Amino acid sequence: MARIIGGLGVSHVPAIGNAIAKGLQQDAYWKPFFDGFPAVHDWLARTNPDVAVCIYNDHGLNFFLDKLPTFAVGAAPEYRNADEGWGLPVQPPLAGDVKLSWHIIEELIGADFDITTCQEVAVDHALVIPLQLFWPNGGVPPRIVPIMINTVQHPLPGAARCFRLGQAVGRAIEAYDENIDVVVIGTGGLSHQLDGARAGFINKAFDRECLDHIAHEPDALTLYSIHDLVKLSGSQGVEILNWIAMRGALTGRVEKLHENYHVPISNTASGLVLLENV
Ligand code: DHB
Ligand code: FE
Repeated sequence: MARIIGGLGVSHVPAIGNAIAKGLQQDAYWKPFFDGFPAVHDWLARTNPDVAVCIYNDHGLNFFLDKLPTFAVGAAPEYRNADEGWGLPVQPPLAGDVKLSWHIIEELIGADFDITTCQEVAVDHALVIPLQLFWPNGGVPPRIVPIMINTVQHPLPGAARCFRLGQAVGRAIEAYDENIDVVVIGTGGLSHQLDGARAGFINKAFDRECLDHIAHEPDALTLYSIHDLVKLSGSQGVEILNWIAMRGALTGRVEKLHENYHVPISNTASGLVLLENV
């Protein structure tokens, strides 16, 4: 049977891709951010997962405001990255796990989640930058399954529902009949707002609460309404929904092995957590 070895939560700011491309990891601005990652590299080298299930929000590369599913799951043999206009190098295609994707899709639909099934998906910075951070120097996870949550066009799915989606993903993975190790990744957040009167908004106290509760009291985070989350964390800070879904997928005993927090990276409070699932 498949095993869920742990979860990773991380921010997905496009400027990070530029810093990687230019080799700026030791620059004063970037060092406190990049110094968060060697602990994750060591853990991944030790645990060596076969598949990364990546929960994130598309920002208009694959879905636009004309058609935007609440929940979507990729079921493609490979996933292509493309130019979003941030000036980032386009990353090579990533290998999918078609069989695991269809298994997760069948289980989610069986669990009453009305997901959109995508046999072709372009993957944006919210997927490729976290993978570049976790598997540096051109490394990649052997296979991925992308899961997209709408954190862009209101009405958004609530935190409790995203947590339940994650739980259903976790149950599906654990019921999968292949002997593989899976890491679940949630990307986005922490607090940030890119638009409107509150552009530049950061809320360190709320970020702290998210980092403190994600391992042992994720239920506390699911009590917030979408309106609360926008107010407390910014209109793009609601990307924490992807972390909440990731945490839902960790069905065992969860321990936080590592964390990093640094403000700002671009307009964003950047967060990183490594959760072990025993
Ligand atoms: C930034 C943050 C994001 O989450 C994103 O998707 C794009 C840009 C930023 O802070 O620049
Ligand atoms: Fe984003």
